[in-house]
Amino acid sequence: MRFKVSIIGAGNVGSETARYLLHKDLADVVLIDIVEGLAKGKALDLGQASQIIGFSGKIKGSTNYEDIADSEVVVITAGLPRKPGMSRDDLIEVNFKIIKDVCEKVKIYAKNSIVIVVTNPLDAMTYAAYKILGFERERVIGQAGVLDSARLSYFVAQKLNVSPYEVQGLVLGTHGDDMIPLIRYTTVNGIPITKLLSQEEIDEIVKRTKYGGGEIVQLMGTSAFFAPGSATAYMVEAILKDSKKMLPASVYTKSEYGLSDVVIGLPVILGKNGVEKIVELELNEEEKNALNSCAEHIKELQSVVDRLLVN
Ligand code: NAI
Ligand code: 2OP
Repeated sequence: MRFKVSIIGAGNVGSETARYLLHKDLADVVLIDIVEGLAKGKALDLGQASQIIGFSGKIKGSTNYEDIADSEVVVITAGLPRKPGMSRDDLIEVNFKIIKDVCEKVKIYAKNSIVIVVTNPLDAMTYAAYKILGFERERVIGQAGVLDSARLSYFVAQKLNVSPYEVQGLVLGTHGDDMIPLIRYTTVNGIPITKLLSQEEIDEIVKRTKYGGGEIVQLMGTSAFFAPGSATAYMVEAILKDSKKMLPASVYTKSEYGLSDVVIGLPVILGKNGVEKIVELELNEEEKNALNSCAEHIKELQSVVDRLLVN
């Protein structure tokens, strides 16, 4: 059976997500964008690589949401990226309008899909999508933790001169400057990095991870897309293959980690039903405090979303 994945927003992150899914021949892909011709053009371009790369998945570009019907997964990347000097939070009002527009259509045309939100500010936009879609929480998931953890792993690998593939980084909390790189749970093939790196080296890596997105915005004038697209497609792959991967993702909490009514990055198990489990790790006092302060910050953004939802 072939799977169908729809990606709303055929910009930088949406295109890279599509490219990964097609090149690994994981699904047929529909790209939707509000800009006439953009999704169609990207689809043609991606499709014309199929003979070279060797994949048989179909790709369609469109402005019409009827084309997303029967998608197993819908990825939402529609929205503005930040420019130098902006924080992700600065995008809340403008991107809320876009998320609202998109989710109202996803609710009509792909009501059984699992939705992965990528648009920033990530946790608040995932919360908005959860509220607007009205789907159960297992089917509305935010992508940030896979990216932030990959950045952490990459910086550790560079410092130790080992393959990034050998490093298992873990970042929880929010997709913002107060994200929580969990050093106690970051290992190189099972060896804690505290045994391999000095505290000074670890501090430097933590700082670079937290500002990992900002570093790229400063360099390029817009935000990253290769790693974000790969991180998103990696989550889609885990769902389509029902692979029960344990990875960090933003989820709506009911009581986990003592938190409720907040969308925050936690370790989850992903399978064909979306979030199949939220994994509760034992955290020390410092880590718990950091998670609680992330939750407070996200709740402030959620209250902005709540106000926008009633207007
Ligand atoms: P982009 O500007 O390249 O693409 C966004 C696309 O959304 C554009 O093609 C635009 O025409 C489209 N769009 C806008 N309104 C729409 C609507 N109502 N319906 C359909 N399409 C619409 O931006 P990029 O770089 O792809 O980033 C997209 C979003 O993802 C941004 O909000 C960015 O901050 C966020 N992001 C999140 C990451 C994460 O890890 N969660 C990482 C990187 C980016
Ligand atoms: C990133 O972390 C800006 O959220 C985007 O690259």
